Amino acid sequence: MKSNGGSDAAKRRAGERAAEDVEDGDVVGLGTGSTTAHAIRALGRGVEDGLEIRGIPTSYQSRRLAIDVGVPLTTLEEVDGIDLAIDGADQIADGDLIKGGGAAHAREKVVDAAAERFVVVADPSKLADRLERAVPVEVLPDARPVVERRVRELGGEPALRAAERKDGPVVTDNGNLVLDCEFGEIDDPDALATRLSAIPGILEHGLFVDLVNATYVGTEGGVERRTY
Ligand code: A5P
Repeated sequence: MKSNGGSDAAKRRAGERAAEDVEDGDVVGLGTGSTTAHAIRALGRGVEDGLEIRGIPTSYQSRRLAIDVGVPLTTLEEVDGIDLAIDGADQIADGDLIKGGGAAHAREKVVDAAAERFVVVADPSKLADRLERAVPVEVLPDARPVVERRVRELGGEPALRAAERKDGPVVTDNGNLVLDCEFGEIDDPDALATRLSAIPGILEHGLFVDLVNATYVGTEGGVERRTY
């Protein structure tokens, strides 16, 4: 499983703490990545002990893991809403996020934004004063050259994400490509998010602005909780 660094113990504390927020009867958004995986495993143990929940996965990875650990799954079509979404992040600054390190940010944003509560789980390596990582942008394959030009006009430098152990680019769960777009320090994440969303051919970008209700950051000693 992809890991962005940070200790596994810290990720586990964060993931397991978020799983404690899940209540009987909840519909739960299941994010993607190595930190959320700890939450999904904890939910699997809860289900074994009688917890009745349904999960909505955000990727092939989270669907597969949920099946493996016995979390019953559902779809957006079958529910009226999502009670709680638990998801990881690649960078967190003042409650805003960069996501998409695992190329799952399009489905993640749909599920996280639809949830009544969205809780982010992370280790301290994800915390920053300002968002500054490259912003992952999922693009329709045919639109790539056009989107690259528009990203450069916004001051970004796009790089097509290359696959590992496959020749050529990463292809997302939705059959699209990913451009990692370097903007340096992002002064106004909301404005950049709005501009990227307006570019035809971009399916979704990894800036998550004003969506988070709480962050649970695992430390070596416990879990630091912040609410927004
Ligand atoms: C998936 O595309 C990402 O948005 C992940 O949620 C993010 O990369 C966090 O992953 P880790 O918990 O493995 O760092």
